[in-house]
Parts: sequence; C-alpha cells; structure tokens
Amino acid sequence: MEQYAIKGGNPLVGEVEIGGAKNAALGVLAAAIMTDDTVIVDNIPDVRDINVLLNAMESIGVVVNRIDRHTAKINASMISAFVIEDEFIKKIRASYYLLGALLGKYKHAEVALPGGCNIGSRKIDLHIKGFKALGAEVKIEHGLIIADAQRLKGAHIYLDTVSVGATINIMLAAALAEGKTVIENAAKEPHVVDVANFLNSMGANIKGAGTDVVRITGVQKLHASEYAIIPDQIEAGTFMLAAAITKGDITVKNVIPKHLESTTAKLIEMGCQVEESDDAVRVVASRRLESTQVKTLPYPGFPTDMQPQISVALALANGTSIVTESIFDNRFKYVDELAKMGSNIKVESNTAIIEGVSHFTSADLTAPDLRAGAALVLACLTADGFSTVDDIKYIERGYEDFHIKLQSLGAQIDKVMSEKDLQKFKLKVG
Ligand code: EPZ
Repeated sequence: MEQYAIKGGNPLVGEVEIGGAKNAALGVLAAAIMTDDTVIVDNIPDVRDINVLLNAMESIGVVVNRIDRHTAKINASMISAFVIEDEFIKKIRASYYLLGALLGKYKHAEVALPGGCNIGSRKIDLHIKGFKALGAEVKIEHGLIIADAQRLKGAHIYLDTVSVGATINIMLAAALAEGKTVIENAAKEPHVVDVANFLNSMGANIKGAGTDVVRITGVQKLHASEYAIIPDQIEAGTFMLAAAITKGDITVKNVIPKHLESTTAKLIEMGCQVEESDDAVRVVASRRLESTQVKTLPYPGFPTDMQPQISVALALANGTSIVTESIFDNRFKYVDELAKMGSNIKVESNTAIIEGVSHFTSADLTAPDLRAGAALVLACLTADGFSTVDDIKYIERGYEDFHIKLQSLGAQIDKVMSEKDLQKFKLKVG
C-alpha cells in the first residue's frame, strides 16, 4: 500500500529544479549500446522507467556504472545476448528501443512485444514497417518480435501516423545502415532531437531531426561520447500546472522555455501570468482560471502527456472547456477518479466536456497511469482536507522525488506505506 497522503488547500509557492527528460533518456541510453566505446550520459532522471531500461541492458551484458544518481557510464562491448525478456518489456514499453539499437549494431534482436501505460492501443506496426524497409526480416513468435538482417540498406520511409517511438527506433536502426534513409512525417518532439544529437555526438550523420523529414546517412561505426540529457518538458509543464491549479506562484528552473510554449500559451489564455527567462519559467495564478479549448497534437502542438494536468485545471475554471485527445484512444480514465472530488466532466469518445466547479472536495483516489496520477495529486493539493492517491508506482515511473519537490513548494504531502503511517501523517499536519 504505497500511496501519497495529502492535506490540500495550500497554494504552492517557490522554485523547483527540473530533471532530465525521461523520454529522451530512454532513447539515448538505448542508443549508447551502439558503440563498443564507453559512453557517459548525464542529467538522467532517477525514475523507475530508466532503472528498468538499465537493468534490461545489463541483462544482455552491457556494463552499466551509475557514477551518481543522474550519471551513467555505459560500455556495450561485451554484449552476449540479443534477447530482451518480457520481464523488462512488461514494465516499460520503451525497452523496445533496444530492438532498433541491437538490429542496427548486430543485425539481430529479439524483444518481447511491448505493453506500456494503459492509455490506449500501443501499436508498433510503424516500427516494424521501418525495420522491414531497411531490409530486416521481422516476425512475431511466442510473444517476441524477432528482427534479422543480412545487411541494412537505407530506405525512404513514410510514417502514416506521427510516432515518437517509431521515429526514434528507425533512426537507431538506420544510423549504421548502408546509404541514406529518409523518414517522412517524422515526430518533432524535443526528445527525438535529443536522441539524434546524441547519435551525432557518437559520429552518426543525422540531419533534420525536429522537422518532419529526418535524413540519416549510415556510417561504419559509432564512437565514445559524453552527453547530457535535455530538461523534461512534461515534468516542467506539470509543475507549471501545479501553480495554476493551486493558485500559486511557481518558478520551474533548468528548463528550455521554447519546449514549453504550448503549455505557456494555454496558461496565459486561462488567465495566469507567465514570465520566461533563459532557463526558467514562472507561473503565477492569482485568480480563478478561465475556461478554454485544448486539442492534443504532436509537437509543437499541446502535448498529450499534459492533457490530464490541464483538464484538472479546467475542471476548476470559470465556464465550459473542451479537451480533445487526438493521440491516444483511452486517456480519460482519470475522469472517473476526479468525479469523486465533485468535478463535472462528460467524456464522449475522445472529447471531454468540462463544466468548471468552484472547488474540489478531498477524496481517496487511485492513479490510472503516469500522467493522470500526477494530475490527480495536483487535484488533491487544491482540495481542502485529507486525500490519498494510491498506485503511485505509476507516478514514480516518470517523476523523480515528486512528493519531495512538492513539499519544497509548501505542499503537505507524504509517501505512506501503511495505515499507521497515514495516521501519523494526519497527526503531524493536524
Ligand atoms: C511516446 O510514446 C512517449 N513515451 C509517450 O509518453 C507520449 O505520450 C507519446 O510518445 C506521444 O508523445 C516515450 O517516449 C517512452 P507514439 P510512443 O508512437 O512512442 C500510434 C509518458 O507519459 N502508433 O508517438 O509509444 C499510437 O497508437 C508517455 O511519458 C501507431 O499507430 O507514442 C498513438 O496513437 C505516455 N503505430 C500515436 O501513434 C506505431 O507503430 C502516437 O504514439 C506506433 C504508434
């Protein structure tokens, strides 16, 4: 019973340091096995998804040395197996980046079919389409994706749907292929650019990352590199919404404001004051928020990973808002949990019609997935009285020290492991 215990009602005020981007680090760490030289990756978030991926890498013989909480030294010269077992894939979908990395380097890989956060169908047909276009034979047997190639030859690949994972996985497989590969309709997320920049720092030849056409010219070998992961735009956005939801004043530090533009624009529409500096963004919410419309889109549109958080804010806003989820087909599960706090949201297919209410009442909630879990914590922080959020393992997949960072902003929140701990928390905060 690991859960967050929360006594809500305090506006969150202060500064918070944002960590490295989980979704960039997952691709960069997988790419690090594509050289036999030693690679050092810095500004890695210490979260469950990263630790599971590093364990998966060690399971095939990669030497991983955690120099400190946020830095890993990696050497993949002694890889002895090419099979990524289900125990790792069951825990995190992004282990499938090892498929592209192993196929690119060794021309063979076996990875269990991926699962991932239950936010909708998590297909991999575009990944497979890319690998086949490069000349690999890909089959699915006994729950494993098995990819083999005599040689990998550059190809022109069109992604029917904009896919972060497929863009990164195909970039990995193409980096050491013979000749030129073009990925059309590529994802443009900052974490896609970060993986491309990291591969180029190892000697790859990738151009156009961050646009919808990525051009990769295969090279013979990749070499050592020392690289720092970009800041996490979703962690930053989550704390920006924490200011909006609790009528607080939060400065997120060590960020790239450009990566947060769509969230900043929406917060201003909703009546927040937002101040940007080189590597920080301050959000002040002094009055009740205004309703607005949101549609999630691939970058630079409004991120689907920020959809639960902004919906919680809009559930307290003045008027009716519409939130359309265009990326995943089942990302409103948190609405049933929020209803326990008195919210008024109707979901019809991939659209939520949100009637703002004046306040939430405290309740005992369960996190349905990573970002929804974080959003429900923010909802509890603004509701007077005691609330709990259960199944916080989802939240710890992607947020490092989430409750500790919230405490530093004035939140009365603690991680409790038992009923006794919960009672102790209640006595402590009174
Ligand atoms: C990445 O997932 C992120 N995860 C997700 O973040 C994020 O929500 C998502 O990108 C969109 O930005 C990681 O980076 C580890 P997609 P991914 O492939 O790569 C369809 C979080 O909270 N699709 O861009 O799995 C798919 O069904 C997580 O950190 C295919 O049809 O997402 C979806 O509708 C949650 N075929 C759309 O594309 C494929 O082969 C976008 O998915 C692949 C995807």
